[in-house]
Amino acid sequence: MNILAIESSCDETSAAVLADGQLKSNIIATQLVHEQYGGVVPELASRAHQQHILPVVARALADANIAKTDLSAIAFTRGPGLLGSLLVGASFAKALALGLNIPLIEVNHMQAHILAHFIDDQEGASPKPKPSFPFLCLTVSGGHTQLVQINSPLDMEVIGQTQDDAVGEAFDKSAKLLNLPYPGGPLIDNYARTGNPLAYKFPMGEMPGLDFSFSGIKTAILYFLRDNVRANPDFITQNLPDICASIQHTLVQMLLTKLKRAARETGIRDIAIAGGVSANSGLRSALTQLGTEQNWTIYIPRFEYCTDNAAMIAMAAHFKYIQGDFTDQTVSPLPRMSF
Ligand code: KG4
Ligand code: ZN
Repeated sequence: MNILAIESSCDETSAAVLADGQLKSNIIATQLVHEQYGGVVPELASRAHQQHILPVVARALADANIAKTDLSAIAFTRGPGLLGSLLVGASFAKALALGLNIPLIEVNHMQAHILAHFIDDQEGASPKPKPSFPFLCLTVSGGHTQLVQINSPLDMEVIGQTQDDAVGEAFDKSAKLLNLPYPGGPLIDNYARTGNPLAYKFPMGEMPGLDFSFSGIKTAILYFLRDNVRANPDFITQNLPDICASIQHTLVQMLLTKLKRAARETGIRDIAIAGGVSANSGLRSALTQLGTEQNWTIYIPRFEYCTDNAAMIAMAAHFKYIQGDFTDQTVSPLPRMSF
């Protein structure tokens, strides 16, 4: 069974090939055009997807050494994401599946981030341990912050989520206030490595239950920087590592507080993280430490499967293929797709 998967939900054009559950290729074209605007410009993103999709798919097939005619199914991200970006991947996938007369499989991008934990990419090597069901996943990206209970590969329930901004957005907007280029999350992570996480205190806010809110801390950071820069125009450049470490520490604590509560309430001890922000070194190390304290088994994805990629779309499609869960040609993208 050979699946070609296409990911185009935001600003990464990616294609991957999975053969009998084993990853054969995963090509990602990152769009650099957005950097000068300090964020993703939707119209430019869809145009860049149009330019990249053909060479990216061709390269994924060539690297996997698989001909188009050997494919068993075409998978694509149906949502959530930017409508114009999703349309490029969906249209391409539909046309290819139609032309080859093979099944089409739609994938939910957020479910795919979670199923990235099941990717096997090293032939012959002992596979990375996989979470057992049910497990909890903290899914953290540029557009989402969710606590998900996963009962089986295709049976997932969101048990908590942000009521306003995503944590990735909080990282990126903080970086923008610090005059760092987009996307700033990884840069905050880098500067934080040499800073003191307790140098500055920011309010974590209170949200009931398992939900999150990041709009308050964003405003607190804005006022904190405005006041300090007023008193000392060089405040940011003189204290960048400490500021980044303190912001990162607060955001990570906000995430882990709710994760701890979710584990307590569900009694689940298999705990995973997923999504772009799971690449954050502060989150990875704090979670590992918390896992030891709480006696959890922790699952952290490889770096390359944290941010957007088609390998995770292929993995999700693999589970759907086994169940015969196919999509018909009338399918259209869902920018606000939930599950
Ligand atoms: O999952 P993803 O690639 O795209 C979405 O589906 O949104 O996540 C992108 C987000 C961005 O907000 C980016 O700044 C953040 O993940 N991110 C990080 C790190 N690497 C990526 N945030 C903090 N630390 C990182 N190392
Ligand atoms: Zn994503």
